[in-house]
Amino acid sequence: MRLQKHQIAMADLSSAEPLPPGSTIGILGGGQLGRMLALAAAELGLRVHIYAPEETSPAAEVAGNATRAAYEDEAALIAFADAVDVVTYEFENVPGETARILSEHAPVRPGPKALAISQDRLDEKNFLNGLGIATAPFAQVDTLDDLISALAKLGTPAVLKTRRFGYDGKGQVKIDDPSEAAAAFDAIAGAPAILEGFMPFEKEVSVIAARALDGTSAAYDVGENVHRDHILHTTTIPAALDASVAEEARTIAARIAHGLDYVGVIGVEFFVLTNGDKRQLCVNEFAPRVHNSGHWTSDACTVSQFEQHIRAIAGWPLGNPSRHSDAVMTNLIGAEADEWITHASMPHCAVHLYGKREARPGRKMGHVTKLNSGFTKPE
Ligand SMILES: Nc1ncnc2c1ncn2[C@@H]1O[C@H](COP(=O)(O)OP(=O)(O)O)[C@@H](O)[C@H]1O
Ligand SMILES: [Mg+2]
Repeated sequence: MRLQKHQIAMADLSSAEPLPPGSTIGILGGGQLGRMLALAAAELGLRVHIYAPEETSPAAEVAGNATRAAYEDEAALIAFADAVDVVTYEFENVPGETARILSEHAPVRPGPKALAISQDRLDEKNFLNGLGIATAPFAQVDTLDDLISALAKLGTPAVLKTRRFGYDGKGQVKIDDPSEAAAAFDAIAGAPAILEGFMPFEKEVSVIAARALDGTSAAYDVGENVHRDHILHTTTIPAALDASVAEEARTIAARIAHGLDYVGVIGVEFFVLTNGDKRQLCVNEFAPRVHNSGHWTSDACTVSQFEQHIRAIAGWPLGNPSRHSDAVMTNLIGAEADEWITHASMPHCAVHLYGKREARPGRKMGHVTKLNSGFTKPE
């Protein structure tokens, strides 16, 4: 195991020269994040090859090359990795075996450590606490008995979450009373889980940070997130936070990136708790990829999170993350995207549509970013 990790690290180091324009970026996943990464790569004169199982995808539509194959198709994975100069991904549930196969043929960035830890809520929380970073109190739950004793320890309300594969609030159940234990355990089909104490947060914020191949890091300003039906609704920049708390959030994001030997952009979600007139930060989770709450950077910064990620994985220097405008990003979910013409008619409003054919409820179809003329100077 050690030897393998070492070999992967050596393979990655041996190609530490920046990839010149004309090189090819391989992206696993065909969604809107892949699409925006592909567009950013094109701006830098880089080619893009998308790997996704779907017949059509928002990302493949804007990329020069696409492979349509399953993430378990070893021959297709090897051919893909051989055809590109670096592999990255736009979703965190890339199977570990897929990443391992690819890494024998091309550098995979971010690397295996970040991928493995972010896929498992228990490993993620242990990793964060190991760095001295606060999280919600939690307990491992494998059986109904574990859940009952975890509820006795952490109290209610609490949130039961599957360790793996959760997103947009899926795979989690709030428990308001210990008598709900059996129903909650059934609701997650007895999957390996964790119980988290319910955090009475004042607000949710996030930081998009990046770490380059040479270990330097950069963090964008903190955004304040509002969710609707468990899906991100708006991100407002800057978050209403004391400058010292905002700086602490950016520092924590950079510490996580360093702790993961990270290369690329990482999204870190926080709960902001109030204790008297003091505010405390607690990390909720992180995503080893560009993040929905960083979409505002496309319009309010010289270098977007998408370009920043491509720069990092291509071994380029990171761009300056400072913003030139305040901004509010709003997701267009399902039929909300039908209002595109209204948004397109407004001044200082950037419209981004992902080209998805069908506007199903709950589906992210696009987003708009309104730039605010009353710019708040960074502290
Ligand atoms: N321990 C908690 N206490 C209070 N609210 C929580 C807790 N965990 C999750 N939530 C709420 O549920 C949302 C989704 O949970 P999260 O762990 O971020 O999963 P997902 O992978 O679905 O984004 C959070 O943004 C927050 O609003
Ligand atoms: Mg989340």
